[in-house]
Amino acid sequence: MNLETDYLVIGSGAAGLSFALKAAEHSHVIVVTKGEMNECNTNYAQGGICCVTYEPDTFQKHIDDTMVCGGGICDMQAVELVVTRAPQLMKDLVQWGTRFDKTREGRYELAREGGHSEYRILHHKDETGAEIERTLISQVKSHRNIEVLEYHFAIDLLTQHHLGQLVTRHTEGIECYGAYVMDLKRGRIKTILSRVTVIATGGVGNVYNVTTNPGVATGDGIAMAHRAKAVIENMEFIQFHPTALYNPGERPSFLISEALRGFGAILKTQDGKEFMQKYHPMGSLAPRDVVARSIDNEMKVRGDDYVFLDITHRDPKETVSHFPNIYRKCLSIGIDITKEMIPVAPAAHYCCGGVKVDLNGETSIRRLYALGETSCTGLHGANRLASNSLTEAVVYADQAARHSAAHLHEYGLQKGIPAWNADGTTATEEMVLITQNAKEMQQIMSNYVGIVRSNLRLERALRRLEIIFKENEELYLKSTPTKELCELRNMIDVGYLIIKQAQAMKRSIGLHYSLDYPIEQPVEAALRKSSSEF
Ligand code: FAD
Ligand code: SIN
Repeated sequence: MNLETDYLVIGSGAAGLSFALKAAEHSHVIVVTKGEMNECNTNYAQGGICCVTYEPDTFQKHIDDTMVCGGGICDMQAVELVVTRAPQLMKDLVQWGTRFDKTREGRYELAREGGHSEYRILHHKDETGAEIERTLISQVKSHRNIEVLEYHFAIDLLTQHHLGQLVTRHTEGIECYGAYVMDLKRGRIKTILSRVTVIATGGVGNVYNVTTNPGVATGDGIAMAHRAKAVIENMEFIQFHPTALYNPGERPSFLISEALRGFGAILKTQDGKEFMQKYHPMGSLAPRDVVARSIDNEMKVRGDDYVFLDITHRDPKETVSHFPNIYRKCLSIGIDITKEMIPVAPAAHYCCGGVKVDLNGETSIRRLYALGETSCTGLHGANRLASNSLTEAVVYADQAARHSAAHLHEYGLQKGIPAWNADGTTATEEMVLITQNAKEMQQIMSNYVGIVRSNLRLERALRRLEIIFKENEELYLKSTPTKELCELRNMIDVGYLIIKQAQAMKRSIGLHYSLDYPIEQPVEAALRKSSSEF
């Protein structure tokens, strides 16, 4: 079955939906998403969305914080673009119906998180992502130019390869013509032809065994783009959030927002002692890579599985009113955060790398854009500043919508793409072949390619991943595709990219910390770098 559209958008988070709304002003858009529309990282975002709103904050301060946090290797043009365009994009969100919290005087109430020198985070309680997602979904559902296909899983991007031509990483002029998409309810694979394709498939958290990301975050877009021979970069920079709720067995791990630390929460070891000041002058509000490594170090030295986050000193009413979601969740497992400390540990949270794009969100493949967490704009450098990702998603969606609209007339619908060929494949009989390999891969990635790495650990990880890759490819070639099989295939690809790019990075910087490059001790280096700021 063939579908045709001007724009095929893969993913229904902040990036995909805000792009769809803008593109649909002049053209037809199909959005495919592999679950229900709100199953996405965006819906889980808590702390908020960054934007310079009032003095004494300035664009320059936001730029500097982003650069310092990113280890100085952010792309300056991307940083300037996101910081300076953010106010306009916040207006768009508000106009679509997003309700950011306000003070009694009617000013926006700004929060602060790790690495920020000012209060600059717009938020809706501790459920900002859900509020933004609610707004976007309601706008998209009422738009006559947008068709949403839920439970539709994009398997692969269509390029000249599907016309029988040899496409390698050195081929010039690769173009994207749409995607093969599996209708999960009917078990059919559709060919969706588009003039422009947008991948907005979110993060990769499920490559690790502990993550804050929902199950949909399996790096599908990055893997699809990699197979289509797009340029992928910065994959070694996987961000671990320092404070996920320690609640063994729960997946995803529930996030305890950094905004709680911005509100005064303090990290303590299990014996109740503060420890962050000895690692960084910003204490519990140091940049995320430093806090995650410091917690990891304390846990390893002390043999503990978690540390505590303490907010019991703040007024209970204020804590509950600012953080109702966190309060309710902790209470549901027997912890009253106004009276008791919260057990927390780091968890895989955000992928700073991805499909390389330019300032318009365009990838190295013509007619293919990548937006949001799937993309690598260069904004985050070696470590993302908290709450910069939602801003990046909406700013680049806007850039891409304007750029692609100006070029749409150059592209037609490609003829001659064959339908999906399932000849010779059969249904996978044993799910355990998939689930066991997924678990092994997550263990390998967490133990060898986590917060602290070494050359030996990366080598071992690669060797083991290669075995899993071979087994899964054999299975994939003889099986009728399922969502689980395709997701594992994608996660293995992403794991491979993380390891290979980590091996190529011959120094410790930001989120890539290797025991073999100890000159840049994370904590001391951060201390040196940041001490000039204070
Ligand atoms: P997503 O919102 O993840 O959307 C991806 C979409 O793609 C989903 O709909 C998914 O189903 C779909 N998809 C994936 N693969 C396929 C496929 N093969 N076929 C079809 N559809 C597919 N950032 C901030 O800036 N501020 C915060 O406060 C914040 N808090 C966070 C809290 C948590 C717990 C988490 C997990 C993340 C947080 N982040 C925060 C990060 C931020 O939420 C994400 O980076 C951002 O929402 C990504 O948006 P996106 O549109 O790129 O992807
Ligand atoms: C949080 O609320 O701590 C998450 C913020 C982010 O990931 O940007």
